Amino acid sequence: MSNNLLKGKRGIIFGALNEQSIAWKVAEQAKAQGATFTLTNAPIAMRMGEINKLAEACDAEVIPADATSVEDLEHLITKSMEVLGGKIDFVLHSIGMSPNVRKGKSYDDTNYDWYHKTMDVSAISLHKVLQTAKKLDAIKEWGSVLALTYIAAQRVFPDYNDMADAKSLLESITRSFGYHYGVEKKVRINTISQSPTVTTAGSGVKGFDAFIKYSDEISPLGNASAEDCANYCITLFSDLTKYVTMQNLFHDGGFSNTGVSRKVMERFM
Ligand SMILES: NC(=O)c1ccc[n+]([C@@H]2O[C@H](COP(=O)([O-])OP(=O)(O)OC[C@H]3O[C@@H](n4cnc5c(N)ncnc54)[C@H](O)[C@@H]3O)[C@@H](O)[C@H]2O)c1
Repeated sequence: MSNNLLKGKRGIIFGALNEQSIAWKVAEQAKAQGATFTLTNAPIAMRMGEINKLAEACDAEVIPADATSVEDLEHLITKSMEVLGGKIDFVLHSIGMSPNVRKGKSYDDTNYDWYHKTMDVSAISLHKVLQTAKKLDAIKEWGSVLALTYIAAQRVFPDYNDMADAKSLLESITRSFGYHYGVEKKVRINTISQSPTVTTAGSGVKGFDAFIKYSDEISPLGNASAEDCANYCITLFSDLTKYVTMQNLFHDGGFSNTGVSRKVMERFM
């Protein structure tokens, strides 16, 4: 269904790796809602080549960028304005990676080089995107930047590992930069805290299969899908949410406000 909520808007979408990616669904929805945008991912992720399928379907140019490289980001943002023909209205930061998670290092046996990498890729990259865009004055007034996060920023999920610290930092950058960019340019910045979702990044977390079921049984509405997350993103890129900024917005079927569900209790009775 299209209401043309993003008609005439220009965007940059980070993080579409394959059809399961949340960013992939956002790109499809943004296209359906009338937006034009560029797609970007780390050069290494391009090797799989899947992003080209999405680019073709969305009539979008792909511009590789490692989100930890300010030089790459300068090129990406400048080129995006050139290709799209003007300043940017929305940015999706849908990026996460932890070498400690990938290589099975537990939180209390962290490899600190990897820990730094986790922070740089999964959190500081948002600061780099925002600072680069601000210096280039690339985002229009009332533009909207969204990053994806997880409730492990507030509560302990033991196997989410150092990604929990990265998400806390990501949400803090959202508030801090949201203040500065808001005051100077009326740009709004928010995070969406999404339910566990079957994707490459999600499934990499130890015990994910059991956990996603637990989360589904706790949440009164069940887990939110990637498609529904994309729909929520569209509302936040649209002009209908102009005064929402510096927020962490839960998109989780009610998980975050539920202590326990009857369904889960029954297992212990
Ligand atoms: N899947 C879940 O359960 C879940 C839940 C809540 C939040 N999230 C968040 O959603 C976002 C998107 O993840 P996803 O679940 O769609 O998985 P995904 O694996 O499809 O997406 C992660 C993306 O990050 C990209 N990336 C990694 N390093 C990069 C770098 N240096 N530069 C640029 N891009 C880089 C990857 O190439 C990939 O496209 C992440 O921030 C993730 O933490 C996911």
